[in-house]
Amino acid sequence: MSGLPKVELHLHLEGAAPPTFIRGLAKEKHLDISGIFDERGNYRYRDFRDFLKVYEAATSALRTPGDYQRLALAVLEESAASGVVYSETFVSPDFCGGRDLGAWREYLHAMQEAADQAERQMGITLRGIVTCIRHFGPEKARGTARCAAETAGDWIVGFGIAGDEKIGAPKDFRWAFDCAREAGLRLTAHAGEWGGPESVRAALQDLEVERIGHGVRAIEDPALVDELAERGTVLEVCPGSNVALGIYKDFREHPIDALDRRGVKVTISTDDPPFFHTTMVREYEELHRAFDWDEGQFRKIARQSLDAAFCDADTKAKIAKKLEA
Ligand code: ADE
Ligand code: ZN
Repeated sequence: MSGLPKVELHLHLEGAAPPTFIRGLAKEKHLDISGIFDERGNYRYRDFRDFLKVYEAATSALRTPGDYQRLALAVLEESAASGVVYSETFVSPDFCGGRDLGAWREYLHAMQEAADQAERQMGITLRGIVTCIRHFGPEKARGTARCAAETAGDWIVGFGIAGDEKIGAPKDFRWAFDCAREAGLRLTAHAGEWGGPESVRAALQDLEVERIGHGVRAIEDPALVDELAERGTVLEVCPGSNVALGIYKDFREHPIDALDRRGVKVTISTDDPPFFHTTMVREYEELHRAFDWDEGQFRKIARQSLDAAFCDADTKAKIAKKLEA
């Protein structure tokens, strides 16, 4: 499976940090975050809310642009080893410089340096989607959106929202999304992961996003499934994440296959791979095992993912050649 060229649209940079990497940083900085690891050194969390807390504690070890440069390189190495040729990663000025534009530019520069190096050395292309954090509230999201708008361009290509879907409502974030849209950014929102179909509807109506992060719980409302198929809304599906967090019992219970059969544009991503003990190769293997998906199906999905990518046409054309190889 690693030989199949892959496109990943939903990956949180901080959430992709290997636990050993975070432990190393914490040691360098004399920071005690030992409570977030289990006895085998993996991240330890009880449920989704606890996962978000552990995620933020791990992220607290990332304190300088240099840390993000090293992180981005480590993450890209792992993705390239899985056969990923193009990746979009969520990055957040909330974690990089506390929404201060000058600091955010420095972090961004560091991540772009890592991306350039990885492209030269490993042939993987990375782009960034600035994300606000829902449970940090709409006011902070406005600051995040301003940073996104100021740095929108070839590399920062989108804006999104992650975090606790049970807190607040998409309409509270309308200003932030309008600001990002006016700056030319493409839009996506986490919805239909912990919230049901109504959460997906609200994201579509109130934020006018073209992609939905997860979105899988749309399956509970057949009319919504039809609407997603008709509109061509792309779902950034992360099956291993949903199974690890207990939304579905196993891959066989996951709705990705049903959504695909009903004509919804699904894509495959890992979300926060070390937290969920996954990689793109593992996602492919599990989908093959659960639904008998074959090479033709995976190639169709990679093409669909590239069509839904937020990068410019020249970049897409370059990646398309790699998918055809
Ligand atoms: N941030 C990182 N991973 C997330 C997830 N699966 N859902 C919501 N916010 C997140
Ligand atoms: Zn996510």
